[in-house]
Amino acid sequence: MSIRNPTSECDGPCPLCGCDFVQSLRSDILRHARFCRRVQEGRETKLSDGCHIVSHRSPIHIQMLVQWAASMARFELNHDQPQFAARKDDADPDLTVAAIFVEQGRVKAMIVSRMMNCGGQVDILTEHHVVEQCPEVKRRAINMIWVLRKSRRLGVAKKLIKFLNDYCGSEVDELGHLMPITPEALQLLRSMGLKQIFVV
Ligand SMILES: CC(C)(COP(=O)(O)OP(=O)(O)OC[C@H]1O[C@@H](n2cnc3c(N)ncnc32)[C@H](O)[C@@H]1OP(=O)(O)O)[C@@H](O)C(=O)NCCC(=O)NCCS
Ligand SMILES: [Zn+2]
Repeated sequence: MSIRNPTSECDGPCPLCGCDFVQSLRSDILRHARFCRRVQEGRETKLSDGCHIVSHRSPIHIQMLVQWAASMARFELNHDQPQFAARKDDADPDLTVAAIFVEQGRVKAMIVSRMMNCGGQVDILTEHHVVEQCPEVKRRAINMIWVLRKSRRLGVAKKLIKFLNDYCGSEVDELGHLMPITPEALQLLRSMGLKQIFVV
């Protein structure tokens, strides 16, 4: 029996999702089709439309939706680790609160936050984002916010931040953030009226 050389049958990465797949293998074609659709349209869910809070107390199949979105964000931003891994943890000392946004039976966006020590402040109106030291305070900090490409600039990220704050009793100007922050996230925070932010 001959062994296939995967590279010789691979048609290069899919321009839509970046996935390499072997065009002659039916199983790969099917797997790719599902993966590709998820990348473009979001992951399927039976949850109703709107925002949903998810924590490490939530059922694992719900946590897996956040994990999926976190892996999409990780892939897009080239991060080392996803910001949310599904696990049952009733104690969760970091008090992780995540939220997902669902539309037409698909997860389109997510936010992940944890209580973290924030000892820096950054002026986000200036071009160079120098971190100024400030007294360390434990704050609810956004670890990741991510919206499916097709769903951007429709107010989804703003909606998720407001939903998270309503649930946690926090205010947008009290939140902490992880550096580095992407230019579009800075634009989002500026659009919410912020001039400076707290950072971890
Ligand atoms: C950052 C991100 C979450 C914003 O999500 P979004 O749903 O598109 O944001 P909203 O639609 O709620 O934006 C609200 C406002 O923020 C500003 N804004 C958001 N994205 C912007 C962009 N790319 N360029 C300029 N302004 C932007 C605008 O003022 C916008 O209002 P407008 O569309 O009426 O002009 C999204 O671009 C994303 O997922 N990026 C990749 C992941 C990422 O960078 N995460 C942050 C890690 S630090
Ligand atoms: Zn694809």
